[in-house]
Amino acid sequence: MTGAAGMLGLDVLRAGERAGHELIGLDLPEIDITDPASVEGALQRVAPDAVLNCAALTDVDAQESKRELAQAVNGDGAGNLARAAAAAGVPLVHVSTDYVFSGEAPHDAAGKPRPYLESDPTGPRSVYGETKLAGEQQVLAASPRHTVARTAWLFGVGGRNFVETMLTLSCERDAVQVVVDQEGCPTWSGHLAPALLGLIERGVCGLVHLAGSGHVSWNGFAREIFRQAEVECRVEEASSAEMARPAPRPAWSALESEREDVLPLPPWQDGVAGYLAARAGMMRA
Ligand SMILES: NC(=O)c1ccc[n+]([C@@H]2O[C@H](COP(=O)([O-])OP(=O)(O)OC[C@H]3O[C@@H](n4cnc5c(N)ncnc54)[C@H](OP(=O)(O)O)[C@@H]3O)[C@@H](O)[C@H]2O)c1
Repeated sequence: MTGAAGMLGLDVLRAGERAGHELIGLDLPEIDITDPASVEGALQRVAPDAVLNCAALTDVDAQESKRELAQAVNGDGAGNLARAAAAAGVPLVHVSTDYVFSGEAPHDAAGKPRPYLESDPTGPRSVYGETKLAGEQQVLAASPRHTVARTAWLFGVGGRNFVETMLTLSCERDAVQVVVDQEGCPTWSGHLAPALLGLIERGVCGLVHLAGSGHVSWNGFAREIFRQAEVECRVEEASSAEMARPAPRPAWSALESEREDVLPLPPWQDGVAGYLAARAGMMRA
């Protein structure tokens, strides 16, 4: 598994151990996915039965001014792994993002916004989204046995994330301003990690959507975090225009799977509960 020192990678290592897999986690400097020789060398050393790629550049705003680097890691780096895995005859599961979509919600027959499905057209609006889409295309082109799993709004105890930011701010302020006009699927990496291993175990190939069930705005997400954590902090409404960031975010990026072989993740609210329990466990340890 690559990206082993990252937020998702750390939960994949835990999930692999719990499931009894012999999982070998690599990150920089043991492997640099931008370097085909480094990737091939690592695959020869480890000789895995399957590869799971959690390595990426994930600072969405920083990448607006670093297109070449973002393409090298998120686009061609994913491709290097996919081609090397195909040459070694093993499947690759690669993690991608809801930011490959434009944010213009598709509508159901009743005219209501509906989650994006695997068959919906992409239309990234940020360098991060564009380069992650390029990575998806290279992975799927390298082998029909490879898998691209799109997820969204990830939070886990092993990295910087929105839940932790909200809890930190609530210690410093009486109120926080959070956007109401971006809607998506918060996903706990403690739910996603075993599901990714499940894709490998069950041989699920191609493009899949795998995110916390249900959807909510960042504002609603913050309210639920404070409710469950029993924290007194007002959540005020803000717009994306007021909270302008270098990279545009999709206004709507709820994900759902239309595939029968994809098992849905638990509701995102259960992910918040799981995260808070895991965090409390770490603080006690
Ligand atoms: N975070 C989210 O909200 C979110 C949402 C949707 C999808 N995703 C996707 O989920 C996956 C995991 O995200 P995450 O939040 O766990 O990311 P993360 O915490 O940033 O971890 C990514 C890891 O990849 C490593 N890496 C970077 N460049 C590399 C290279 N050239 N070769 C090898 N390793 C390299 C990073 O090392 P350094 O720290 O040294 O750079 C880091 O340890 C990514 O594919 C991401 O696009 C994330």
